[in-house]
Amino acid sequence: MMIQDRGTFLKVNLDNILQNYNNIKNSLSNKEVMVVIKADAYGLGATSVGKYLYDNGVRHYGVATLEEALELRKFMNDGLILVLGVINPKNVDVAIANNISLCCPSVNWLKEVTNHITTQGELKIHVKFDSGMARIGLTNEEEVLEVKELISNNKNIELEGIFTHFANADSSDTNYDNFQKEKFTKLKAALDLEAKYIHQENTAATMRYVNEKTDLNLVRVGISLYGTYPSEAIKKVTNVRLENVSSLITEVVHVKKIAEHEKVGYGCTYESTEEEYIATLPIGYRDGILRKAQGWNVLVNGELCEIVGRVCMDQLMIRCSSNIKVGDKVLIYGQLGNDSLLVNDYANHLETIPYEVYCILGSRVPRRYYVNEKELENIF
Ligand SMILES: Cc1ncc(COP(=O)(O)O)c(C=O)c1O
Repeated sequence: MMIQDRGTFLKVNLDNILQNYNNIKNSLSNKEVMVVIKADAYGLGATSVGKYLYDNGVRHYGVATLEEALELRKFMNDGLILVLGVINPKNVDVAIANNISLCCPSVNWLKEVTNHITTQGELKIHVKFDSGMARIGLTNEEEVLEVKELISNNKNIELEGIFTHFANADSSDTNYDNFQKEKFTKLKAALDLEAKYIHQENTAATMRYVNEKTDLNLVRVGISLYGTYPSEAIKKVTNVRLENVSSLITEVVHVKKIAEHEKVGYGCTYESTEEEYIATLPIGYRDGILRKAQGWNVLVNGELCEIVGRVCMDQLMIRCSSNIKVGDKVLIYGQLGNDSLLVNDYANHLETIPYEVYCILGSRVPRRYYVNEKELENIF
């Protein structure tokens, strides 16, 4: 049996991911929901999250890399798995053999891909339009017509989807969304080919444009599955309720009383102003707790305790009352019993966004999966 000696872990409520998925799906009429579980499901663990959702009937998945797609295909016998990023054309046969759908980001990519196909199977592609993000995708009608010709002349290629991505949909200003929508419409018209899926919306756009009549029939949602609105602006415009999914928990391993004017941590950046209690937690920047977390208040038995001194690689210190004892559970963000700390507030403290908070959590932190508040022994 694997030993988990440290009381540090990420608690992931899988049933709440499913609940968030259902809340989003129920808010939409006639649109499929693709769950974006790229980047290891935003750090929560793509195989466990994917397996739970797959077992509960979800059949549309978005990932970033071919490797991520292949991991999922090991246990997903059917359903769409789309690689949203750019794969190396030389691996196209692997994608075909495993029924992985690919993003077509450019004319050259598609030309190279057609040169590398050696198997009989069919390659499913989703042609990406760059409508204003300047990341990947076709940008003008000339490129679109070239891609159209390549698709039309190649029987091995199935145009399964057409898509684009918003750059600014989480903002309260919708002007740039309108610009991108118009460009997408023009490029789609230039392509003038039927595709099973037409998709543009991330969580922010899914929530903001929920009642808009369009030809879009699939949305790609990530952050909302994990219980977080993409921004305050979006939280204000949506009725979709989201449940908390992840909670970062650790425990006190050491407590001591220090005198007035004692220093705490590397660089001696903190000095006590009176007699104080300092507790040490077994979590540090290797676990994804950035040094910027200094000053954040964690919760221990309902008591807010400030991270004082610099965060170390494996440990950090908090200032607490004399009530705090070795073994007490500590909440960094999420929920623990009646304690609750919003990941948005933690992200604001770090001057970043929840996406980054989730993704930087270190690989050393065990992800523990719960359904109905019961821990799953083994998800597979
Ligand atoms: C292409 C693409 N689609 C969808 C998403 C999901 O976005 P969100 O997590 O905001 O729902 C992402 C995430 O970055 C993405 O890159």
